Amino acid sequence: MFKSVVRACVFTLGFAAWATAASASPRTDYMLKCMGCHGPEGAEVAGKVPALKDSVARFLSVEGGRAYLVKVPGTRQTPLDDQAVADLLNWLLPHFDAAHMPKDFAPYTGEEVHALRAHQLPDVVETRAQLIKALEDKTP
Ligand code: HEC
Repeated sequence: MFKSVVRACVFTLGFAAWATAASASPRTDYMLKCMGCHGPEGAEVAGKVPALKDSVARFLSVEGGRAYLVKVPGTRQTPLDDQAVADLLNWLLPHFDAAHMPKDFAPYTGEEVHALRAHQLPDVVETRAQLIKALEDKTP
């Protein structure tokens, strides 16, 4: 009897530790905060949500793109702290689009996210269109 109570406690504590660690992981943050729109695979939802898969890291190679990935409302407005957002992007970019990662990619920091988050994009659709145009001009 006593033994089984102890076992139950150890199990509960173990589970709590696991749950805490898991909620701090970028993958879990993605599942909880982003997957509702972007899906488990970062696939496009035609006419609504652009693909992250095989696409998202391209923004890193044009001016303003690195900032855009933080300022886009899905990232900027998520109820995660700055460091968690940095960790999430540092995980998400190579996870969904390893092929387009610049070789000299410097991971986002919490401070950088903090500074970028302070400014709201006046027109997300327009900013995105300009970045896509810059990408297309770069790779005809
Ligand atoms: C309510 C739906 C929704 C949620 C939730 C959401 N996004 Fe998005 N995301 C979008 C849409 C729509 C776009 C296209 C830009 C725009 O119109 O905001 C986008 C664009 C992006 C982009 C730029 C890709 C591109 O091609 O423009 C990134 C990066 C991104 N989201 C990351 C995230 C992350 C990280 C989260 C979770 C913390 C998240 N999003 C949550 C809908 C969402």
